[in-house]
Amino acid sequence: MNTEATDAPLIDVENLSVVIDRDEGVVRPLNGVSFRIDAGQAVGIVGESGCGKTMTSNALLRILPPGAKITSGHIRYRRKLDEQVVDLATIDSSSAEMRQIRGGDISMIFQEPMTAFSPVHTIHNQIAEMIQLHDPMDDQAARRRVVELLDLVGIVGPDERADDYAFQLSGGMRQRAMIAMALASKPRLLIADEPTTALDVTVQARVLKLIQRLQRELGLALMLITHDLGVIAHTVEYVYVMYLGQVIEEGPVVEIFDNPAHPYTQALLHSIPSLTDKSKRLEPIEGSVPSAFALPTGCPFHTRCTKQVGDICKRQMPAHTQVGKGHFASCFIHTEEGS
Ligand SMILES: Nc1ncnc2c1ncn2[C@@H]1O[C@H](COP(=O)(O)OP(=O)(O)OP(=O)(O)O)[C@@H](O)[C@H]1O
Ligand SMILES: [Mg+2]
Repeated sequence: MNTEATDAPLIDVENLSVVIDRDEGVVRPLNGVSFRIDAGQAVGIVGESGCGKTMTSNALLRILPPGAKITSGHIRYRRKLDEQVVDLATIDSSSAEMRQIRGGDISMIFQEPMTAFSPVHTIHNQIAEMIQLHDPMDDQAARRRVVELLDLVGIVGPDERADDYAFQLSGGMRQRAMIAMALASKPRLLIADEPTTALDVTVQARVLKLIQRLQRELGLALMLITHDLGVIAHTVEYVYVMYLGQVIEEGPVVEIFDNPAHPYTQALLHSIPSLTDKSKRLEPIEGSVPSAFALPTGCPFHTRCTKQVGDICKRQMPAHTQVGKGHFASCFIHTEEGS
């Protein structure tokens, strides 16, 4: 534990690996993930389905599935209680310390808000309970805070809506209520895992704008997880691109869009509808993400890559190499061995 680290990043994940023991074999969803988020910074984590995005956030919160364990790495987190840096990779996942961080420091919003709410309690009761758990206050004060939070997330008539049940709200409103609940504990890091995927496009844009406004106004750090590069374009400052449980490219959002350095990122960008030129032909990435049961040797992307530099791609993992200001990629195109 480090007591002199108040200028440390809020969370610093280094070389994190997770394996899951299954009857069918060993699954390797995370294979040395490294990334960091500073206080108040908005970061995007992108990659196709199965790349390990959700597993990464579940590892941070120590809510891994049965049979899964962290086999290497650190998750250094600067906690709200006393600004001390603790390693969430080694802390007891059911300890009071971890529960405090899980509920109080780091909040999550999900794709499906119904899972966040109990069907048998009103929105008010659930948010008020969360508020009082982290900040003891009487029921009247908690009610005022619930209404304030519902107002903050843009729910019209918050005093009346507070007494609704989750199923009485529209999809977009439910998403807003879930965000209000996530904010109830005054977190410093908000993890949003595909927060808008289930919503239609116009609601999606509004909810993203809301998350962005809250992040800025409340000075929250944001980890926005999505398979959709379009979602992060205007929402985050810095992007980590994941492939098979590793970060294969990272950089400021403008660099990632204007100057992608890894063939995987380039392929991802070609596979999304152009934000400016709707007539551009889309090129889906060949093949699919290999199973985490049987990882390829060498560069994990080599089985689908159209830009291999040679046999080395099949044999060796390329180093994470600087390719621009604050911009890194793991590809032999950018290393000496590959030239
Ligand atoms: N409980 C589990 N048992 C075995 N394998 C699992 C389990 N949960 C996830 N995996 C595997 O771990 C890998 C990473 O999964 P994860 O859910 O983190 O992907 P993701 O990037 O969040 O994908 P998506 O975009 O579909 O949400 C995948 O190969 C997945 O099949
Ligand atoms: Mg996921």
